[in-house]
Amino acid sequence: MAEDNNLSKIISHCKEYGFIFPSSEIYGNLGAVYDYGPYGAPLKNNIKDYWWKAMVQMHDNIVGIDAAIFMHPTTWKASGHIDSFNDPMIDNKDSKKRYRADVLVEEYIAKIEAKIDKEVAKGQKRFGDAFDEAEFRRTNPNVLRNAAKMEEVQQKLVTALESDDLTVFRDLIIELEIACPISGSKNWTEVRQFNLMFGTKLGALAEDASDLYLRPETAQGIFVNFLNVQKTARMKIPFGIAQIGKAFRNEIVARQFVFRMREFEQMEMQFFIRPGEQHKWFDYWKENRMKWHKALGTADSDLRFHVHEKLAHYADAAEDVQFNFPIGFKELEGIHSRTDFDLGQHQEFSGKKMQYFDPELNESYVPYVIETSIGLDRMFLRLMSEALQEEVVDEEKGTTRVVLKLPPALSPVKVAVLPLVKKDGLDEKALDIFNELKFVTDTIYEEKDSIGKRYRRMDAIGTPYCITIDHQTLEDNTVTIRERDSMDQERINISDVNQIVLQRVDMNNLLRQLA
Ligand code: GAP
Repeated sequence: MAEDNNLSKIISHCKEYGFIFPSSEIYGNLGAVYDYGPYGAPLKNNIKDYWWKAMVQMHDNIVGIDAAIFMHPTTWKASGHIDSFNDPMIDNKDSKKRYRADVLVEEYIAKIEAKIDKEVAKGQKRFGDAFDEAEFRRTNPNVLRNAAKMEEVQQKLVTALESDDLTVFRDLIIELEIACPISGSKNWTEVRQFNLMFGTKLGALAEDASDLYLRPETAQGIFVNFLNVQKTARMKIPFGIAQIGKAFRNEIVARQFVFRMREFEQMEMQFFIRPGEQHKWFDYWKENRMKWHKALGTADSDLRFHVHEKLAHYADAAEDVQFNFPIGFKELEGIHSRTDFDLGQHQEFSGKKMQYFDPELNESYVPYVIETSIGLDRMFLRLMSEALQEEVVDEEKGTTRVVLKLPPALSPVKVAVLPLVKKDGLDEKALDIFNELKFVTDTIYEEKDSIGKRYRRMDAIGTPYCITIDHQTLEDNTVTIRERDSMDQERINISDVNQIVLQRVDMNNLLRQLA
């Protein structure tokens, strides 16, 4: 992650350059709801494309669906969301701000972890090349004291999460002397549970209307279609069903831009397997998904697995892929071993057999499921956090540039066609090139402002290549191609432009790394 990136820089860049706007801004915004703008929408589509191709196109045993957002209300009874989809919340009486009790404790733990990292960095500086980090972590008294403290608090958090008694949570917050980040006070209310589902009504007349929920996860649309998909696509276990779609949660604490939204998008895949094979497939999908993340060029130190302290009501194992966001290491994707819980529950509530006849075993069973679930908006924020950089262009003159170093295959605009000046026929020549390139990839044509200003604008929206048409073009049919990150310029023949650009921005450059 670019070191000097903080969330507010990303938010203002997203707004200024047409990536993300607050929803209904002219009416004063709607909390934790966002609209994607002219460069945000295509970037989002490209992320979806990368995920869909990696999951569906690259696996002959995974198919994709697009289920409705509205589902029969019994779905949510069966899935356990009506009874268990709650967050423990606590209010600070002075600031009147509401927090998730578990997040307050997690942030406390993250502060201890940061102290350990600081101590290690100090050791590294002191001992230079002779530094042995593992030995240092094993023996340094400050590291050991903080590690023990961290372990102790983690244990207490697990106890609080597993307890039905919410006073255990409040007592922990008081014991750790956690203060409200806004008011600095430790004047807390009781801890209460909030259900996160949005309710609505189906039907015109209030008395006939039935209660509906906006889906809080896309996964249930896959589970209820298990039999339809298995039969129509003639799938044999092990096989997966993938889906990208909106999900809705009435997040109480929602003030981290697109990290935590009330309306967001998920990319989920349910992989149906034989009971008893869940450990093997859990490990397989952990490795597969980490490869997908790393193919984007992320530093190893910015991605890690995190084992869940408390398992969701449906899981027998769960780990998150965490990314080092500007707000610290946080969950980007969840990998869950969901057992036969969901299909079993739908079988019970619907009375329909949710079973698979396994011809090799000659028996029927309710399949087990490994789920991979990633938030599209969080993936967007991760890319922005990594890509947005401020660089010195010329030290003597003190000039800098803001550049969005997105992976070329995901950039919203792949190539910009720029006539050096809008005269002498350069603009016409540039339009000819644009009119060919637009069949190949996402291309824009820009003739306004000086060439320097146009390059800066293309850097800021992450355009990896600029094709510039100058007077030499009229003489020898060559143009320059400028690469965003190095700013290097190369002269190439017009006849090679399409092929060169296509080769460099091809999504297959990413997909091939997954093989
Ligand atoms: N089907 C399993 C499931 O929904 P989850 O951990 O609650 O699991 C999966 O959500 C992913 O969805 C998360 O890892 C995160 O990337 C994304 N996500 C969850 N809540 C979100 C929110 N309020 N705003 C944005 N993304 C969210």
